[in-house]
Amino acid sequence: MSDTLTSEVGAPDRFAAPVRHLVSIDDLSDDELFRLAARGAQFAAGTAGRPRPLAGLVAGIYFAKTSTRTRTAFSSGALRLGASIVTYGPGDLQLNTGESTEDTGRVLAGMLDLLVARTAGPEAELRGWAAQDRMSVVNAMSAEEHPTQALTDLTTLLGHFGRIEGLRVLYVGEGNNTAAALALALTRYPGVELHLRTPAGYGLTADVSARALIQCARTGAVLTERHDMAELPEGLDAIYTTRWQTTGTSKPHADWRERFAPFQVTAGLWERSPMAVFLHDLPAHRGEEVVAEVLDGPRSIAFTQARNKLNSAMAVLEFTHGGTR
Ligand code: CP
Repeated sequence: MSDTLTSEVGAPDRFAAPVRHLVSIDDLSDDELFRLAARGAQFAAGTAGRPRPLAGLVAGIYFAKTSTRTRTAFSSGALRLGASIVTYGPGDLQLNTGESTEDTGRVLAGMLDLLVARTAGPEAELRGWAAQDRMSVVNAMSAEEHPTQALTDLTTLLGHFGRIEGLRVLYVGEGNNTAAALALALTRYPGVELHLRTPAGYGLTADVSARALIQCARTGAVLTERHDMAELPEGLDAIYTTRWQTTGTSKPHADWRERFAPFQVTAGLWERSPMAVFLHDLPAHRGEEVVAEVLDGPRSIAFTQARNKLNSAMAVLEFTHGGTR
């Protein structure tokens, strides 16, 4: 697709550096990941200046699934960085009437400089759209991975602790796209411990586990996963959960609520780690994955994390067009 597309549109030589895509955390080198987390923290701290690297560019914001944070963060972030935006909701593109994903990507790449997309399909769809070098493609959540959420999480941890190396994190809940991206991102940092407690049948995929464990062997990070809440680690720095019903997915087991019930984040968890902060990618359902006392309590940084969706999105948008490399 790339040769045909480039010659068709005669892409102008506007950028000193080629555009970059972000479909998976694995698209980033260690150094790029660390820089993106740090750049997000700079935006959060108000020390990033007022860059406008997207001035004169047009960003498409396509969400085939519902979103409050990610869609707003990338729309607001693109505008703040100087871009104009074109937005598409779930019912807007001719994908709905049968136009192929290949034709859709080919057409959009001839008109847009950047596409932030939460699709209804597999990650391969985004990979197909990214097989050209004019329009940057950013994964705003696919079934497999939520990479921009992980970057938000890194920015939040960095802003709170001043470091990520050596942090000890407990993740409680489904090994979904948020957990996958978090595992792939945190295990890049030396000395990090990421302990997952996931319901049976709802753990990390074997592929994500294998990729994260390969990184652990390289960095000295630790990744563990169990399907019960026994022998929880103590003295943690952070406890993270996610809602039980991931956007755009359904549960294969009729008894899934019984399976998930033991994995609620309760105030009792804090007895083991009284200094731990609480993170949640939101939206939250109080009384399901977390009790209100924790989410709204003094050690919750979940809404700082939500604000950091914007700061992190701006770091990602800069990166796609030459910044933070
Ligand atoms: N955390 C997250 O992705 O939120 P939205 O679904 O609201 O974008």
